[in-house]
Amino acid sequence: MIILKSEREIQRMAEAGKLLAACHRRLAQLIKPGITTMEIDRYVDTFLKKNGAKSEQFGYNGYQYVTCASINDEICHGFPRKSPLKKGDIVTIDMVVNLNGALADSAWTYAVGEVSESARKLMDVSKKALCIGIEQAVVENRLGDIGHAIQTYVEGEGYSVVRDFTGHGIGRTIHEDPQVLHFGSPGRGLRLKEGMVITIEPMVNEGTWHSKMDDNGWTARTVDGKLSAQYEHTIAITKNGPVILTKQ
Ligand code: MF3
Ligand code: CO
Repeated sequence: MIILKSEREIQRMAEAGKLLAACHRRLAQLIKPGITTMEIDRYVDTFLKKNGAKSEQFGYNGYQYVTCASINDEICHGFPRKSPLKKGDIVTIDMVVNLNGALADSAWTYAVGEVSESARKLMDVSKKALCIGIEQAVVENRLGDIGHAIQTYVEGEGYSVVRDFTGHGIGRTIHEDPQVLHFGSPGRGLRLKEGMVITIEPMVNEGTWHSKMDDNGWTARTVDGKLSAQYEHTIAITKNGPVILTKQ
């Protein structure tokens, strides 16, 4: 069931999104060789609490951290850990903020120090894939238009789009209907309506799109060990076009 949001609800989600974006901007300064993803997780927890918000991820289906921290070949849902990040790593920090009951979800991939040209290119393509998807998030378009635009661009650049994880509706809970696939056919799928709030969060792989699950039951990584990157925004579909609620 798709729950349409009122302007007031979207406004409140935008406030959560603004705080989340501010947190990501801090992380951009903080993430350097030597820092651990556990330290990043603790930083985010403190930042959110200081600003009257909390993590919606902590405790979600038993998840035990405030952030997901996915390094290099990890696609998503990486657990924060106590080993330091190294120069040349890429790390995706994903978080869901709850501000007075309103939610926002955004992930960002960070370069740890100087990274290889190929890692930088992967990050650029992933970020642009998100932008291209957002452009399609307009009233009367269909979900397939979003997926198709992302897939066509990403594959045209010689990368692949992960199929096993999707974007989603978001509102009172993290994952609401609909599922937002990052691949698909134009003109197919659900028609977008004013008041829908969805995430677009393509995970882009250097090699094949196939993923495997770690023994922890959460963390997905590439089967071929190649890099994966991801940028995610929470988007409101309005009569004036897509509004990025988590814009940095
Ligand atoms: N953006 C992530 C997703 O939609 C948030 C995951 S929350 C978690 O999958 F608790 F499941 F990790
Ligand atoms: Co999400």
